[in-house]
Amino acid sequence: MTTTGGVELKRGLNGVYLDNTLISYIDGNIGKLLYRGYDIHDLAEKSTFEEVLYLLMYGSLPTKDQLQKHEAFMRENRAVPPQIFQVVELTKEAHPMDVLRTAVSALSAFDKEVDDFSPDATRRKGLRLTGQAATILAGLFRIRKGLKPVPPSKTLNHAGNFLYMMFDKNPDPDEMKLMDVDFILHTDHSTNASAFAARVTASTLADLHCAVVSGIATLKGPLHGGAAEAVMKMSMDIGKPERAEEYVKELISRGGRIMGFGHRVYRAEDPRAQHLRERARVLGERRGQPEWFQILQAVVKAMEPYQKRGIFVNVDFYAGAVYHLLNIPEDLFIPIFALGRIPGYAVQVLEQFEHNQLIRPLLNYIGPMDLQYVPMDQRR
Ligand code: CMC
Repeated sequence: MTTTGGVELKRGLNGVYLDNTLISYIDGNIGKLLYRGYDIHDLAEKSTFEEVLYLLMYGSLPTKDQLQKHEAFMRENRAVPPQIFQVVELTKEAHPMDVLRTAVSALSAFDKEVDDFSPDATRRKGLRLTGQAATILAGLFRIRKGLKPVPPSKTLNHAGNFLYMMFDKNPDPDEMKLMDVDFILHTDHSTNASAFAARVTASTLADLHCAVVSGIATLKGPLHGGAAEAVMKMSMDIGKPERAEEYVKELISRGGRIMGFGHRVYRAEDPRAQHLRERARVLGERRGQPEWFQILQAVVKAMEPYQKRGIFVNVDFYAGAVYHLLNIPEDLFIPIFALGRIPGYAVQVLEQFEHNQLIRPLLNYIGPMDLQYVPMDQRR
């Protein structure tokens, strides 16, 4: 906190509570994360992405019957209008995050409920966007290779369907579970920068598609969703575990940051990281590429001295290796984070709409005052 001219500044809104929430709880000092009161560890190990979406959207765990209906709705709402693939085709040279943002924006032209702000319509749109975003991204992956998009499966779950639409084959059950856990871990994280952006947009009473587009745009940066991509690049630069310590020391001495480390709210290990750590190790061994995990663990060791400053591994640290081992290209890592987070934006928008107040903070002006306007021909 700094004080300028009598005004108390909270730069980056660090430590500022915006509102009450019933969605996620984070205790950054002990690395605790709850969705609607349920521990992320239980959800990651015992639940499914579909069940977690129900929990977040409706506030309680579903009964068997409720879950079946909800899963059926998700399976039936994955397809995108053919025009959306034309948008993808036209923009395919851009970063996939820009393609996803543009295509999601274009979807608003085809969603008949776009102007319906009721809670039920907002939930339906949120679930539709979740499925459709996966269809767009898998379609882009194939279009870039000169292949046709694979139509969504009518039987697989969301994670399995995503892998199926990418690689055009029934996914391995372990890899499907891994993707499912990855989506669960990324679904919501309270007022992270992109969910905040989605809330700001919703607070003007713009529609859900606008809010989701704001969220996707904000997620793109390397300080937020971009870290997994950067971690994989870093691992490739390091090349072998023995080089990790020197790399870390050298980068930090130049004022650089180790991607996949540190977090605005955690002063302990991000509780989401552990669920990808063991899975990244096992997947690396299965795929005959144990070196990525070994490099990552060497970076963790080299970063131990920074733990006393509250800098620990975050969720993105192992995610990059997992995606790489699943044969997913690096520039799709951030959009995959977005696939997990889109329903989180929808839930936050739902909550914002419930008791909306325009979000409009202040900036403390520190520039010159009352300058005299100089006509163009007298300026030098
Ligand atoms: N490597 C080295 N030093 C770091 C790191 C890091 N990854 N993270 C923070 N620090 C240092 C930083 O240099 C600063 O030192 P000093 O006080 O000497 O200037 C101090 O810790 C505080 O950093 P900050 O940027 O003021 O703190 P913040 O709360 O704004 O930072 C962060 C949060 C995520 C932007 C930052 O930790 C970072 O840049 N990490 C790397 C990017 C990354 O992994 N992002 C993914 C976050 S998890 C996914 C998500 O939820 O978005």
